[in-house]
Formats: sequence, structure tokens, C-alpha cells
Amino acid sequence: VGKIEVKLDKIPEGKNVTFKWRGQPLFVRHRTAEEIETEQAVDLSSLRHQEHDNDRVKKPEWLVVLGICTHLGCVPIPNKGEYGGYYCPCHGSHYDSSGRIRKGPAPLNLAVPEYAFADDDTLVVG
Ligand code: FES
Repeated sequence: VGKIEVKLDKIPEGKNVTFKWRGQPLFVRHRTAEEIETEQAVDLSSLRHQEHDNDRVKKPEWLVVLGICTHLGCVPIPNKGEYGGYYCPCHGSHYDSSGRIRKGPAPLNLAVPEYAFADDDTLVVG
């Protein structure tokens, strides 16, 4: 209870899939090589909530975050907004492909839950 297993081979590169975990939306994003390169190169001093991409993912190809805007809790829309990651339409927060807040009222990056890779193809969250 409280854990979910996600089969990663069902999520094509470039796609974000939303799961429900502990009653909350959970985003699992299969990042492209371009997204990984872009996020790893971001200058931390340009960030409101300064976290390096390497500290937000366990494998560069997979971003695992709660789909809850850190402003007032709306569910952001994947692959939208000025930074290509997520866009929260409630009050206009833009997140990058690392789930980091880049523009708009949200104060913090999208939260990263506890997770592990059970094998190459299986993610366990919780
Ligand atoms: Fe997302 Fe306000 S709840 S911008």
C-alpha cells in the first residue's frame, strides 16, 4: 500500500504520463536527449529554487515528480509553457523539463517523491 509500480517501456521518449499515487497526480516523463542536455546545462544562479538537474533525477532519462503546482496546487500541463516542461494554467507558472520553476508565481520546484528502479524497466514510487 502506498507504492505504485510503473512499467517504463510503455512510456515513449518525449512523453509524460500521469499516474495517480496516494490520491495525487504523479508525473513520469521520458526525457529526450535534448531535454537532458538543456536541463543539465542550466546555470543555477538563474533559478528561483536552485537545484541541479542531477539532484532531481536518478537516471537522466526519467523525471519523476508530483504533478502539483507549488503555488496553489493545480495540476500543470505537460509539454507546455516557455520552458518546455510544464505549464500551470491557474496563474501562469512555467516549469522546465526538470520540473523546476522558471517563471510565474510558484515558489518551488515540483516535488520529487521517494522512488527506485526495481529493474531497467520498472519504477517503484513510494
Ligand atoms: Fe499553479 Fe497558481 S496554482 S500557478
